[in-house]
Order: sequence, then C-alpha cells, then structure tokens
Amino acid sequence: MFEGKVVLTGVKPTGTPHLGNYLGAIKPAIALGREALKTGGKHYMFIADYHAINAEKNPEVLNQKLREIACVYLAGGLDPAQSVFFRQSDIPEVHEITTILYAYTPKGFMNKAHAYKAAVDKNREAGKPDDDGINMGLYTYPTLMATDIVAYDSDIVPVGKDQVQHVEIARDIAGAINAHYNKELLHLPTYYIDERVAVVPGIDGRKMSKSYGNVIPLFEDDKSIKKAIFSIKTDSRPMEEPKNPDEILVYEIYKSIATPEQIQEMGDGLRQGKLGYGHIKNMLLDAVIKEIGGIREKYNYYMAHFDEVEEMLADGARRARPAAQATLKRLKDAVFAR
Ligand code: TRP
Repeated sequence: MFEGKVVLTGVKPTGTPHLGNYLGAIKPAIALGREALKTGGKHYMFIADYHAINAEKNPEVLNQKLREIACVYLAGGLDPAQSVFFRQSDIPEVHEITTILYAYTPKGFMNKAHAYKAAVDKNREAGKPDDDGINMGLYTYPTLMATDIVAYDSDIVPVGKDQVQHVEIARDIAGAINAHYNKELLHLPTYYIDERVAVVPGIDGRKMSKSYGNVIPLFEDDKSIKKAIFSIKTDSRPMEEPKNPDEILVYEIYKSIATPEQIQEMGDGLRQGKLGYGHIKNMLLDAVIKEIGGIREKYNYYMAHFDEVEEMLADGARRARPAAQATLKRLKDAVFAR
C-alpha cells in the first residue's frame, strides 16, 4: 500500500523510551518506513523538537531527550542513508509555512484539538481557570503539525489513535488552501493506523506508560529488566492448576514480543498446568533480552558518539529542506501573486 508514496513519521522527544514505546511505536515506525522505501516510496522521519518546547523548558533535559530518541531509532534499525532523518528545528521554512497556514486555520479547530482539550479538562478537574498554564505553542500545535506534514508532500502519516484528529486537521487546512487558490498547492495527507500493533500492557496490567510507573525498561542492564519482569502481577494459583492464558498478564506481554511458536508453547503450558509463573517470567525475560540485546549495544554506542548522530541529522536536514522550500515557494507565489 506504500508503493511510491511519501511516508512521514514525526516523534516528540518525551523521555527515555521503554519496551512499550519500542514495541508499540518505534519498531513499527521503522518497519513502515522500510516498507515504503522497498516499494519505491520515500520515508521522512523527524524529531519534533519545536513541539517539545511547549512542555519542556529545560534545555539540558530537552537535549538529553532528543539524543535518546534519535539514538533509539538508529539503534532500532532506521537507516539514515535511506530514510530522511532530521530535526524539525533545522528546517526554518516550517515557520513561514505555518504563518500562512494560520490564515486558513479556524480557531474552532484549535479549541477542539485533543491536546488542548485534555489540558483544559485537567485544569477544570483541579479547579483552575480553563487556560491556566496553557501556552500558545500547545494551543496552536495542530497547525505546526499540519506544516510538518504538508511541507514534504506527505501522502501517508502513520500515527497512533490519539493523533488521527491532528492529521485530519492538516488535511482540512490543506484542502481549504487548495480550494481558495483553486490549485493543488498542498498535497493532501492521510493517516495510517497499523492495526497489527498491539498496546503493550505494563507490569500492573494497565497500558505500559512512564506516568504509571509500570514499565519494563529498554536500556538498563539485565538485572533491572529482570527485576521489572519478576514484579509482573500474578496470583497464587499452583502450577498444576490449568489456566486460561488470556487471563495471565505475563502471557499478554509475551504476545507482543515472542514468535507464534513461542506464544503457542507458553499458552499450552499454562492450559495444561505444566508451566508456573516463574517459568513463564523467565521465558519472557529471555525473549525481551533477545529482542533488545543488540539494540541496547547500538544505543549505547550512539549515545557515546553523538557527534556521528549530529552529522546524520544535519545530512537529513539538507535532504529534507528542498521539499519545504518548494512548498513555501508554491504558497508564497499563490498568496502574494508573485
Ligand atoms: N504530535 C505528534 C505526537 O505528539 C508528534 C508530531 C509532530 C507529528 N508533528 C508531526 C507526528 C507530524 C506525525 C506527523 O506524537
């Protein structure tokens, strides 16, 4: 489905990625990029650092997060010679395009955007004024995101469910501009949700998330990973008691990482009362370490040699910028009748 298409992946640098981020977002994004490239398409992959400053004001912390996210994608197999891998803040045209897009962004779209609405809801719950602590960066961020998408003539934007609305806003803004000038100035994007990707549960059964403190770490040593896996919630039923694997959290997490044969084996063992919780936790631990062992090494290498990553990002920006420049020129020519 990606033949000859431009696929764009954007990621906010939000903190040290855990196993849930890796299996649920990072790995599938790299795979989709590869699929596009393999079938004659193009893959842009950028780090949305301008989006990040709305929430993160400490430059050192922001820089650390950017490094971590860049290195995890490289370690996970993103090939910067094939994918165009860059930082949003290296493409200044983004802001000129955004200013033009603002003139076609109904304020009501921003009022309804999820990220803003969630912030308002949180304020209401806390008994604070609606817009308490909300900056214009957060409020207008769907327009900047629309620019991220249209600047590179993206066809397909793979996203999680929470970002669908933002891609639709991008499509609406681009459509309004095209309609006004009666010309295809901007390419209309579509979102893509990868249904094959499951939400990875954390060690307490809720979605794995740093804010719940229920993560299995990606880049810590084997001991910390083991500690997290051995604290996955279980009950006190004896091994011999036949169990329904679908009710067992370790099995649920295993399903997101193991091969079909391995999953079958664990399922059978539980159903037949032949595998206890200690066994299945060790099976999960082996699968996790097998999956991330090589990645962890590469990740540590890139973190320690970030100058090499800087060069890759600079090269990506050089390759991304001409598309943004061309988009800006098309817009300015039309808007100002140049
Ligand atoms: N808003 C996205 C997120 O929070 C990140 C993002 C910014 C993005 N610009 C984008 C994603 C453009 C896809 C396309 O995850």
